[in-house]
Amino acid sequence: MKLVIAADHGGYDIKEKIKTALLEKGHDVEDLGTDNGTDSVDYPLFAKALCKEIQEGRAELGILCCGTGIGMSMVANKQKGIRAAVLSDEFSAEMTRRHNNANVLCLGGRVLSDERAVLLAELFVNTPFEGGRHQRRIDMME
Ligand code: RB5
Repeated sequence: MKLVIAADHGGYDIKEKIKTALLEKGHDVEDLGTDNGTDSVDYPLFAKALCKEIQEGRAELGILCCGTGIGMSMVANKQKGIRAAVLSDEFSAEMTRRHNNANVLCLGGRVLSDERAVLLAELFVNTPFEGGRHQRRIDMME
């Protein structure tokens, strides 16, 4: 599965940890930046660039990291065809794939430990959408 990942300075550290873990598990992960955690950058630019990869079919799922995950999720959810979920627990990471068919996960580098961020990303990527009645509800979103 082709994955894309991006972060601002607040999410840079967990982006690196998540990317390393997913690559080690054999996933195809493209990193859209940022490339350090010290220079302040604008999260909407990274969120829009990542969503474009999904909208244009070059990636299936994306992971966006900022300080809280909130700003990234606000931008991502304004992009057509994007269903972004900001969360910090395992149940939500699984259910947003199973029921919402979320295609973007938003995580907060100032909220989560590295280990927790990796765990949530792996759950998100490895959980399938259930389809059925959930597809009908998703169709109602657009
Ligand atoms: C950057 O300081 C911070 O505002 C950003 O990473 C994010 O938390 C916004 O939602």
